[in-house]
Amino acid sequence: MRVLGIETSCDETGVAVYDDEQGLLSHTLYSQVKLHADYGGVVPELASRDHVRKIVPLVKQALADANCTLDDIDGVAYTKGPGLVGALLVGACMGRALAYSWGKPAVGVHHMEGHLLAPMLEDDVPEFPFLALLVSGGHSMLVGVEGIGRYEVLGESVDDAAGEAFDKTAKLMGLDYPGGPRLSKLAAKGETGHYRFPRPMTDRPGLDFSFSGLKTFAANTIAKEPDDEQTRANIARAFEEAVVDTLSIKCRRALKQTGYKRLVVAGGVSANTRLRTTLAETMQAQGGQVYYPRGEFCTDNGAMIAYAGLQRLKAGHIEDLGVKGEPRWPL
Ligand code: KG4
Ligand code: ZN
Repeated sequence: MRVLGIETSCDETGVAVYDDEQGLLSHTLYSQVKLHADYGGVVPELASRDHVRKIVPLVKQALADANCTLDDIDGVAYTKGPGLVGALLVGACMGRALAYSWGKPAVGVHHMEGHLLAPMLEDDVPEFPFLALLVSGGHSMLVGVEGIGRYEVLGESVDDAAGEAFDKTAKLMGLDYPGGPRLSKLAAKGETGHYRFPRPMTDRPGLDFSFSGLKTFAANTIAKEPDDEQTRANIARAFEEAVVDTLSIKCRRALKQTGYKRLVVAGGVSANTRLRTTLAETMQAQGGQVYYPRGEFCTDNGAMIAYAGLQRLKAGHIEDLGVKGEPRWPL
């Protein structure tokens, strides 16, 4: 079976072709980062319009790169939600219309299921069951994964997502959008031990997260400290350590609770080097194993949607003819 996957939930247009025997045949990606940079964040209307401009050329390119004709595709998957409704509708219209015109089935994929399954695109595939830490710009969640579609949300953020906290704190530090990777770069120049940020919600039982307090703590620290590069790097370092430490504490707790030995980490923040190293050490200490997607598949992409869509289509999930986006959609 061969599936065309389309991702347009936020500011990346991604299209890919995945084949269940040959693996990933092609993937194309266009990032709108430059378009939104002047505004310090994603402008939904601009995002939708840019998806409209890019989607057709990217579909053509993904098919050409995979040496495919329309006849070789057995189904179409698109991100149905959650995300920006206008942006979602561009991918949903394109995916649904292509499938209809080719007489092929279509399936709407949950964006976070795409992230969750992204490590399956690598050679070293995690076996079920596993614990998934999903950390992106819109979500932070711990999920118990027993199999495809068998997900139990064990904990999630009660306010800002981890990536959102990175982005907002970066903005406070005068860093350009997208702030997460920039803050992380600055943190690498910082010295540890100058500031002690809290580890929110680790002093009580449970697996939920809260990151908005860290942003406030950063704002207060920035306000009372000198405005020089090294001080900002030290603050960035302390902030990053707090986020990573908090995520690591909650992962250890969830692993203990579930008894799982495998941890999958995905979503944009899983590109963070400190997080990757810390969780690798955590899992090694526990005699378990950690799995990540490669860097380019941590953030939004079409490959993860093609993969997840293929699994869903194989399980008989088919979208009806209506075109629907689900801006808020529980996993
Ligand atoms: O998964 P993603 O591409 O989009 C959403 O579904 O939200 O995640 C984007 C988020 C942004 O908040 C971005 O700042 C964050 O991931 N991010 C990072 C890093 N790379 C991306 N945060 C911290 N360190 C990074 N290296
Ligand atoms: Zn995402």
